[in-house]
Amino acid sequence: MAQLIAALDYTNAEDALATAESLRGCPIWMKVGLELFTHEGPAVVKKLKDMGFKVMLDLKMFDIPNTVAGGVRSACLMGVDLITLHALGGERMIHAAVDAVRQNAEEGGPKPLLFAVTVLTSMAPGELPGYGENLSGLAADLAAGGQAWGLDGVVCSGHEVEAIKSRCPGLMCLTPGIRPASGSASDDQRRIMTPAQAVRIGSDFLVVGRPITKAPVPADAARAILDEMEKA
Ligand code: C5P
Repeated sequence: MAQLIAALDYTNAEDALATAESLRGCPIWMKVGLELFTHEGPAVVKKLKDMGFKVMLDLKMFDIPNTVAGGVRSACLMGVDLITLHALGGERMIHAAVDAVRQNAEEGGPKPLLFAVTVLTSMAPGELPGYGENLSGLAADLAAGGQAWGLDGVVCSGHEVEAIKSRCPGLMCLTPGIRPASGSASDDQRRIMTPAQAVRIGSDFLVVGRPITKAPVPADAARAILDEMEKA
């Protein structure tokens, strides 16, 4: 069964925790990304964990192997459940991240899932020099590399899930760019699909931000998405 992750893209912990509080008890993960983490730091992650949520730390790490390994170790210390990095960091960077998680687990710490971004879902064909229309091909190549290097999964567009899963059996797919059928704006996302479509094509995690955070009642919007996923 696919999991829903609410992207808490707020500046303040107060707003983020109010939305989380209203969803306590729902089968939903929380995502802490650049906006919230840069302003509030590890304290907000701890509060979400104390509320009982699984937390995705979406900092999309992309740096030299030693620096990424250090970032991953620090994320492990926070007790997050899923960490993101960029597949474009390549083999040695991904290996360093995988080794950092393994070492943390061997020392008795948690073993968060490691997912790498393939191609951002906000990117449209033609926007990446050298790749023309073939963003899906690049996403699949990066996913295959990532699986060989020991990742648990990749972040990709829903439109790429089937191709990635047939080429990389066992690799999990996490899909942002999700817009409920009931008329949400696509915002800056370009390669989007509905929650029901994403579940049907086999996505393991659906990340939804603005359709929840900008809704008049965020918890109602999240519950409607969970309902759409269950019926898919
Ligand atoms: O508001 P929206 O639903 O577009 O938010 C999507 C969330 O997923 C954002 O927090 C964004 O950072 C994240 N994300 C993404 N594309 C990726 C990886 C993460 O949109 N490739």
